[in-house]
Amino acid sequence: MLASGLDIFRLTLHVLAAAIWVGGQFALAGMVPALRKAGPGVASAAANAFARLSWPAYALLVITGLWNVSTFQMSKTSTAWKIVLGVKLTLVAIAGISAYLHQRAKSPRAIGIWGGVTALSSVAILAMGVALAG
Ligand code: HEM
Repeated sequence: MLASGLDIFRLTLHVLAAAIWVGGQFALAGMVPALRKAGPGVASAAANAFARLSWPAYALLVITGLWNVSTFQMSKTSTAWKIVLGVKLTLVAIAGISAYLHQRAKSPRAIGIWGGVTALSSVAILAMGVALAG
């Protein structure tokens, strides 16, 4: 059975924002060596440009995520589904906080650690989203 128009709209927005938030991190990380070679300040200009896209995408994920949850009847979801949702929401908070700390970090060590936490938590969130969709 095909999804309804509104479901297509809701899930397309959620998945598009996930593609920007998660995929964008990997695309940027893959380009960093070339950007560094291109000159001083190029990599940080690209990172700032990505931040202007990724934070609106994160906000859209939270808004469409709440919309997703509202389409489920909680009494009809399994305990496992609720646990995955709870873990996913915790990781969404961790990804947001670690991305913020990554953006503000000055030392290469802190930049690496917080960037790694953001990437790992974001991939786990993605997999949990797929699990919730069933
Ligand atoms: C970094 C943030 C997030 C990412 C990367 C993400 C990613 C995803 C992905 C890839 C799916 C699968 C879509 C599909 O296969 O149709 C999904 C589904 C879902 N997400 Fe998220 N999500 C995020 C945030 C949230 C938040 C904050 C909530 C709740 C407030 C949420 C609730 C859900 C629900 C309930 C589904 C199942 C939707 C359905 O089947 O109708 N997500 N998510």
